[in-house]
Amino acid sequence: MRPVKILSLGQMMREVDQALEARFDVYRDDFLGLEAILAEQGREIAAIVTRGRAPTTAALIERLPKLELIANFGVGYDSVDVHEAARHGVVVTNTPDVLNDEMADFTVGLLISTVRRFPQADGYVRSGAWARGEGFPLSPSLRGRRIGIAGMGRIGRVIAKRLAGFDVPIAYYSRRKVVDLPHPHHTNLVSLAREVDTLIVVLPGGTETRNIVDSRVLEALGPEGILINVARGSVVDEAALIWALAMRTILAAGLDVFAHEPAVPDELLAMDNVVLLPHIGSATHHTRRLMGELVVRNVTSWFDGMGALTPVPETPQPTARKLAVGAI
Ligand code: 8YV
Repeated sequence: MRPVKILSLGQMMREVDQALEARFDVYRDDFLGLEAILAEQGREIAAIVTRGRAPTTAALIERLPKLELIANFGVGYDSVDVHEAARHGVVVTNTPDVLNDEMADFTVGLLISTVRRFPQADGYVRSGAWARGEGFPLSPSLRGRRIGIAGMGRIGRVIAKRLAGFDVPIAYYSRRKVVDLPHPHHTNLVSLAREVDTLIVVLPGGTETRNIVDSRVLEALGPEGILINVARGSVVDEAALIWALAMRTILAAGLDVFAHEPAVPDELLAMDNVVLLPHIGSATHHTRRLMGELVVRNVTSWFDGMGALTPVPETPQPTARKLAVGAI
């Protein structure tokens, strides 16, 4: 039997491509160019593995008549057109759970860095200002803050668990109440923002959450407000955030994600009241290895006829491959 052909998009982790190459024919767009692969192999490609750097669009899915599976490296799969995938009977998988702890550790770190101004203090030491005897201003504190978590999925829950150890009141926003969670629940983000002064965003990206953190939410957060975004840049109205930070209608922001990565607006780069990180929430050896392994296990399980391990809810969830492709 000829090996299954896989399209690898967006500089996939090398270990993932290598593990797949042991068993499948892998065509890397960063190596061969997408158009060349589509022209020569498009009719035969049965799976895509993607880092989500470039969108997996309806147009691309259309061009792959034998496509069965899209395995996304990452828990967020807003870059994949899941509705088009579903329409074509294509299963989409992501990498949930294996990054929950890492993301929660990271989020707490970014929160404290932003509140206590660690990067600014580090810059002060490196610049020689401390040695020259210049003062470093007192910082805001986590003490007395009220924390709101926007999004109470798998990662949000672990963040809430971590923060419980910090003795700060927590409230959250999500469409549905999480039954076993003691914290106050809001179905309206403005109402959550009114109750808290520190908002951590862990909502999924996509059309439903686009710009959901808008000028009204930022205004409700108030002049002591701190925004932490570790989710997707699309969730925050970036122009409204820049305005709120510049006008000091909120105090500060810690951002790991941006609307047009890797571009970061010049206004943010020039500000002293922000901590800016290059989308590294899950980027450790430990967690990226687990994510990569889950991508590989999804692909191999699928082509072994055992079904996908972590399919997303929007696309079909057959327990075996033949049910999805209609072949008996
Ligand atoms: C990755 C992420 O940065 O899991 C996600 O949703 O955003 C990340 O962990 C991305 O998928 C990798 O390229």
